[in-house]
Amino acid sequence: MKNILVIGGTGFLGSAIVRELARRPATAGCLMTLPTRRRERAKHLLVLPTVSVIDADVHDPATLARLMAGQDAVISLVGILKGGEGEPYGQGFARAHVELPRKIAAAARAAGVRRVLHVSALKATADAPSGYLRSKAAGEAVLLDAGLDLTLFRPSVIFGAGDAFLTVFADLARIAPLFPLAGADARFQPVWIEDVVATVAGSLLRSDSIGAAYDLCGPQQYSLRQLVSYAAAVSGNPRPVIGLPAAIGWLQAWAMEFIPNGPMTRDNIRSMRVASVCDNGCALPFGRVATPLEMVAPGYLR
Ligand SMILES: NC(=O)c1ccc[n+]([C@@H]2O[C@H](COP(=O)([O-])OP(=O)(O)OC[C@H]3O[C@@H](n4cnc5c(N)ncnc54)[C@H](OP(=O)(O)O)[C@@H]3O)[C@@H](O)[C@H]2O)c1
Repeated sequence: MKNILVIGGTGFLGSAIVRELARRPATAGCLMTLPTRRRERAKHLLVLPTVSVIDADVHDPATLARLMAGQDAVISLVGILKGGEGEPYGQGFARAHVELPRKIAAAARAAGVRRVLHVSALKATADAPSGYLRSKAAGEAVLLDAGLDLTLFRPSVIFGAGDAFLTVFADLARIAPLFPLAGADARFQPVWIEDVVATVAGSLLRSDSIGAAYDLCGPQQYSLRQLVSYAAAVSGNPRPVIGLPAAIGWLQAWAMEFIPNGPMTRDNIRSMRVASVCDNGCALPFGRVATPLEMVAPGYLR
């Protein structure tokens, strides 16, 4: 394997995967191409000599065809949490989670690129309660139908330095005297970013991962209330967490949809109606043992 196209490679998870692939002896010589909408935001990756970050619109089939030419594998990571309202999912979700995988599959087949690694989400099913999860399931289905050498990854929420999860709660705790929280009893089984990275990077060159779908979780389940409370306390700002009644939480999320970059949407609340926990406990592939949140989070939350 010499050339890898990483779509969505500039984000939180993608950047870590790219760094790991650039470091591993088996892939250190691979040239990685990372299309982005804003190259200037990927400065942290420009220092890697085998990584090429380029401004490109991956939704444009002609651009995607050019990007795909000569690649040996594709890692597909584009994901959004706000995709609007709609049935079975909002337009933003349709474009990023379903149409883009369809275009990736078509471009890969046309270019003869068989190996595709795709990051979906835990509990993505066609009858899931949210547009986010339904669209993620539809994206998986599109790729499964394409006859590629596919590996799917379905993480629960991912934690690690720079996450948009515990870090956000810790930041909010610095300014907020308390947390009025929607979905306080929602369940999660957070998985460490390096465990996800190791699974994706490890899968790339393993033929036994072709056709596999890996649910990825950490060793322990928590309620959202526990996680918010923990992040606030560990960052040095313990705060009371007040669980909001469902109707108030719903109204709060609806109101936040009018704020640019608002932290919550009604669809996010619907996602939390299904527990983001692994049915197989926390068994990671390739014999890797999942890392406890408490071993890592204090290091970056403090
Ligand atoms: N983080 C988690 O806790 C978590 C949990 C479960 C599943 N996942 C899944 O893991 C994947 C990576 O997540 P992440 O946390 O790394 O996300 P992230 O930090 O938000 O990065 C998203 C990436 O997708 C690209 N992107 C976003 N919207 C796009 C669009 N409309 N068109 C084209 N490119 C777009 C961004 O590229 P630009 O450079 O162009 O901005 C960026 O590279 C996603 O599929 C996500 O659903 C994440």
